[in-house]
Amino acid sequence: MVRINLARLRKDLQELGEIGTTPEGGVWRSSFSEADMEARRWYVKRLEEAGLQHWVDAAGNIYARVGEGGPAVIAGSHLDSVPNGGRFDGVLGVMAALECLRSIKDHGVQPRLPIEAVAFTDEEGRFGGFVGSFAVIGTMTYEEILRRRDLRGMPLADAMRQVELDPTNIGAARRDPKDIKAYVELHIEQGPILESMEVPIGVVQGIVAGSRTWITFHGRADHAGTTPMAMRQDAFLGAAEFGLRARELVLMEGSGTTVGTVGVMDLKPGASNIVPDTAFLTLDLRDISGEVLQRLLERVGVLAHETAEKWGLAVTVERMRLSEAARMSPHIQAVIDEVARDLGHKTHWMNSGAGHDAQVMAKITEAGMIFVPSRQGRSHSPAEFTDWDHVENGANVLLNTLLRLATS
Ligand code: HGY
Ligand code: MN
Ligand code: MN
Repeated sequence: MVRINLARLRKDLQELGEIGTTPEGGVWRSSFSEADMEARRWYVKRLEEAGLQHWVDAAGNIYARVGEGGPAVIAGSHLDSVPNGGRFDGVLGVMAALECLRSIKDHGVQPRLPIEAVAFTDEEGRFGGFVGSFAVIGTMTYEEILRRRDLRGMPLADAMRQVELDPTNIGAARRDPKDIKAYVELHIEQGPILESMEVPIGVVQGIVAGSRTWITFHGRADHAGTTPMAMRQDAFLGAAEFGLRARELVLMEGSGTTVGTVGVMDLKPGASNIVPDTAFLTLDLRDISGEVLQRLLERVGVLAHETAEKWGLAVTVERMRLSEAARMSPHIQAVIDEVARDLGHKTHWMNSGAGHDAQVMAKITEAGMIFVPSRQGRSHSPAEFTDWDHVENGANVLLNTLLRLATS
């Protein structure tokens, strides 16, 4: 079995973790931000140093490749992060994929099929998420790009132009499924299961269906001191009641795997002595079943209008993103499990509550995911950490899974 070079991978991850750092010790690399562009430039330099064939597609996805001829086995993840996120989410999969290509070159291995590494654009979703992988499968059309903007109102199309990507050319990023044999993603678990079970390798069976809904309650700005309570159209009250009732909806009408989160809330005009006329919030709703999620999203819409009516407000509900649940390929799950056991590791078969590019790639090719433990199950926080022996195990399982898929 071929092995990766952990010292090289660890050095890469530690260097990359210094790009876009926050005072709390996290990273903040929202897609197409200066920090993201610096990380992209840094990553391309690593590809050049490794003497690998590489290119950037119309969506800003960065590819590298070894070998020619035939459908490619692809490994990858994302370089962008959440605000004040951790130093392993996404980048572990990108750098481990690069480390696999370098190890294949170092050991003079000649896989029958080409093997590619990819770093996808906007997985975390400054612009709604999965921009790069949706472009690869052809669902990120120019019309869809025009629907997307960030929380400050910056259109995705403008942000792309600012980094010399032409949004009208997005169709060029689409890959013909015939040119892809499989997609495998190494990722931190971002939860507590593997660590609590003391199992080093997770074999992902399915990934949740996800959704991001933007909801704005519209009231009337008034003087906080002179406006009687009964005369107010206070947008905050609509948002506050909606947030609590959405949680009840998840607990009472969800499937038990349903999770719902209000992660952003913004009041305008935003002064302590003005009754707010606008309350904006985001609702992240997920379930392992797409049908359950669909049903709950309809209920959320009704709830938003009921709450608005109760407080004399208007409300707009925007579906910013929907990602379908995905089953991972049974064949790839079996290969991951076999490789892990051949390397002497126990495995645990599990679902992913986090969304990943693998659930998008599963629409056009056989997809699989390998999880490694997150310390205390923490992620999307500067506390995110994965022990280096777990990083090494995960990368070696990824490398040998890619080689088996590229030679079978
Ligand atoms: O939100 C998620 O599940 C992932 O981190 N993008
Ligand atoms: Mn994430
Ligand atoms: Mn991720």
